[in-house]
Amino acid sequence: MADDDKRLAAEAAVGEVRDGMLVGLGTGSTVAFLIAALGERVRDGLRIEAVSTSIASARAAEALGIIVHDFAGVARVDLTIDGADEIDAQLRAIKGAGGAMLREKVVAAASDRMVVIADGTKRVNAIGAAKLPVEVLPFARSFVAARLEALGAAVGLREGGTDNGNLILDARFGRIDDARALAAAIDAIPGALGHGLFLREVDAAYVADAGVVTRIERDQRPR
Ligand code: 5RP
Repeated sequence: MADDDKRLAAEAAVGEVRDGMLVGLGTGSTVAFLIAALGERVRDGLRIEAVSTSIASARAAEALGIIVHDFAGVARVDLTIDGADEIDAQLRAIKGAGGAMLREKVVAAASDRMVVIADGTKRVNAIGAAKLPVEVLPFARSFVAARLEALGAAVGLREGGTDNGNLILDARFGRIDDARALAAAIDAIPGALGHGLFLREVDAAYVADAGVVTRIERDQRPR
């Protein structure tokens, strides 16, 4: 079951957490298992502190006794563990079904190491079938939607806003031939504040499939 695999992947990644670390907490249902496992280890004496990529994850962690700092006062994180919607063998990922991809990308960039946890349904040969979320300044909603359509996407406005008070446009490309070029094109749209293409951020992934956890490690090239 996907939930068992999410838990297994999360528990495997918790093995990387050491005393004294500042840990970045991702967002989503797989990360909920991570926070539960971390909470148990903190109860057993592990000494860590955390920053969070969402209000929901911060609340869940604090409820388990984990100290969560405001990321606004933090410039460097030891290890961040986060979920993904799609991940391929090169550790390129699509994130943001939970709407936190902008904060997730900032925290990933600040992290010495960023690890994805996922069940096997998230593993793909090539990223691009999942919707690609784009966080948008509300003022620029229609303009950014038109630019994304011009890039070939079918675009939908997600209900609700982000923790940052912005909107999310879900862009469906169906297939992405050149992810780097697409990421650069979206980065260049004024009013598009962030998107769910994580092409270089992920250092390793723990993917659990039918009870078996596989760790995929990025090779040692600088990112
Ligand atoms: C939130 C995310 C999530 O990590 C991603 O959507 C995976 O979520 P889940 O573990 O619930 O499948 O990127 O912005």
